[in-house]
Amino acid sequence: MTVLITGGLGFIGSHTVVELIEQGEDCLIIDNLSKSSIDVLDKIESIVQKKIPFIKLDLLEMLSIRDVFIKNNISSVIHFAGYKSVGESVKDPLSYYQNNLISTLNLLEVMDEFDVKKLIFSSSATVYGDLHTPPLNEDLALNAPNPYGRTKLMLEQMLKDLSETDSGWKIALMRYFNPIGAHNSGKLGEMPYGIPNNLMPHILKAANGETTKLQVYGGDYDTADGSCIRDFIHVMDLAKGHVQALKFVEAHNGCEAFNLGTGIGYSVLDLIHTFEEVNNVIIPYEIVERREGDIVTSVADVTKANTLLNWSTQFGLKDMCYDAWIWYKATKRLSV
Ligand code: WQD
Repeated sequence: MTVLITGGLGFIGSHTVVELIEQGEDCLIIDNLSKSSIDVLDKIESIVQKKIPFIKLDLLEMLSIRDVFIKNNISSVIHFAGYKSVGESVKDPLSYYQNNLISTLNLLEVMDEFDVKKLIFSSSATVYGDLHTPPLNEDLALNAPNPYGRTKLMLEQMLKDLSETDSGWKIALMRYFNPIGAHNSGKLGEMPYGIPNNLMPHILKAANGETTKLQVYGGDYDTADGSCIRDFIHVMDLAKGHVQALKFVEAHNGCEAFNLGTGIGYSVLDLIHTFEEVNNVIIPYEIVERREGDIVTSVADVTKANTLLNWSTQFGLKDMCYDAWIWYKATKRLSV
């Protein structure tokens, strides 16, 4: 039986495929390559030392999805495919609603038709909005603050409705906090397409001298050093969380949400200083205006994932900074 990974050549998808293969799972990757590169497939194969079936496919094409299920014995799906830039979603909300919602609805329709009802869904801590005082637990009211987050919230609600209507569905909603880091081989990492939104790609560029200064969005928040606080989680810990979620849904019908974070908050300046210390580099930065839509603190309560998924994070902030830099330097050497 095969695990279908949509968006499997993306940052989190590719690291999860490595984990799945190393745990003995058979995988089939589909990806439309709009926000990823076919080179990532070679990198995954070189890490796991085996060929991985891949199909270039857009989930907006329903017939193509059906063809995959006709020709392969799919047992479960891990659904990563989707646009994920907050900034981009504000500029072009319709493309986010169309891509993230319709592609998922197509996938669900085909899964239902072929009676494949085990699904791990890539959600996000952004669904908590800025309503609550951290640590955030899965039972809190949800309220996404931007179109990207609203696509995740709407999809979570659709999946809950589906599981209430048809108890045969076995669904895990994975709410990522702030994934950073890279596989310790230096072969996989976060390669954002276009202008990166997230913090770590900007740190890497500044550390590598590609930008003159990193901009820190806001230094006057009500935190110890004035910068925002986030729950940074190593992408390999995140990948392992998905493998554990797959085991969980094997034995549990319904629809359960899980926070994937460390439960520890670090500020933007903490991350910058840790990165400098671990990698012996200087990151020039300047504190500028706050970024609209940012929340001050986002930290997970990870009790539920720790207990129900038998999962806990193994890597700390220093590992995340070290692994990210090793990968980035390796990638830059290859691109010269
Ligand atoms: C983190 C902190 C910025 C860039 C978003 C999504 C979330 C997930 C991760 C997909 C904030 C500050 C950033 C920079 C900065 N995406 N920052 N300078 O906003 O916490 O979460 O990305 O799953 O769903 O909501 O992540 O990395 O953009 O920002 O100072 O150049 O870093 O202001 O405080 P965020 P981020």
